[in-house]
Amino acid sequence: MDKNSKIIVTGVKGQLGYECVRELKERGYSNVLGIDIDDLDITNEKAVHEFFKREKPAFLMHNAGWTAVDKAEEFPDKVYAVNSFGPKYLAEACKEVDAGMIFISTDYVFDGKGDTPFEVDSPRSGLSVYGKSKVQGEDYVRAALDKYFIVRISWAFGINGNNYIKTMLKLAETKTELNIVCDQIGSPTYMYDLSKLMCDMMESDKYGVYHATNEGYTSWYEFTKYIYEVAGITSVNVKPITTKEYQKLVPAQANRPLNSRLSKISLDKAGFKRLPTWQDATRRFIKELKGE
Ligand SMILES: NC(=O)c1ccc[n+]([C@@H]2O[C@H](COP(=O)([O-])OP(=O)(O)OC[C@H]3O[C@@H](n4cnc5c(N)ncnc54)[C@H](OP(=O)(O)O)[C@@H]3O)[C@@H](O)[C@H]2O)c1
Repeated sequence: MDKNSKIIVTGVKGQLGYECVRELKERGYSNVLGIDIDDLDITNEKAVHEFFKREKPAFLMHNAGWTAVDKAEEFPDKVYAVNSFGPKYLAEACKEVDAGMIFISTDYVFDGKGDTPFEVDSPRSGLSVYGKSKVQGEDYVRAALDKYFIVRISWAFGINGNNYIKTMLKLAETKTELNIVCDQIGSPTYMYDLSKLMCDMMESDKYGVYHATNEGYTSWYEFTKYIYEVAGITSVNVKPITTKEYQKLVPAQANRPLNSRLSKISLDKAGFKRLPTWQDATRRFIKELKGE
């Protein structure tokens, strides 16, 4: 990719979009356009096409999305507009200007059952409105474009925006005991690390579907204990609780996957470097939060 090529990054006010712009600039790209809903509402088909005809990007990193999983159950039409039709319009607009695209998807495209890692081509039934909307988004992107990357991630955290680690650190200021789910297994994804891999992908022509979380698997319970250990917090008693027990305490939640393990074999086959371990990523993120 030419360093003067125009690259559009959606969701720049969110966790991942922010990191993508930072990494692209770090690599010397001089024509990076980070946008959010105020610049372009991706659910507006006409506006999307006009925007792309005007800007003529060489590549799109599409990170924007409806990310509130529980709230998604209440507003399915809005969720499909953002997570299914948004990527459709964007992929079609990319096709028109011959741009490549990365679409960020999720572990929720799978049913969350079993205890083995999902492969990139495992069946996708879509867990909850959020998961189903992303399945449809993936399908639209594939149908519209050849030059696409679909990258599925889970348990995202980054400096710009809210996430689980920040929430746990905040809760430690007021709580001395927390019940945390111990039977949902997956992998955290540090947006800083992911943005580097996304740039590597953009700079290649190895289009396709990938899983890209930090290495290793954990439960929310073990993750929480590790966050407090790294942050030096000893005042909170973290207690394991099953998903069933949790749902009794907090009803009306969207279904959560018990198994979010994502196989990274497709990264290996394509010659992309896997992300560092989730423990390493957590340590670096907490340092980043402390401004160290
Ligand atoms: N966070 C996770 O744990 C996780 C896990 C798996 C996959 N993902 C996927 O990873 C991607 C990046 O996640 P993230 O955590 O960086 O998300 P984020 O921080 O929630 O940022 C998403 C951004 O998209 C914007 N947006 C929403 N609707 C839009 C629209 N109609 N047009 C244009 N922009 C719109 C949001 O603006 P507003 O804030 O104004 O709505 C927000 O700035 C998303 O596609 C998400 O589905 C996230």
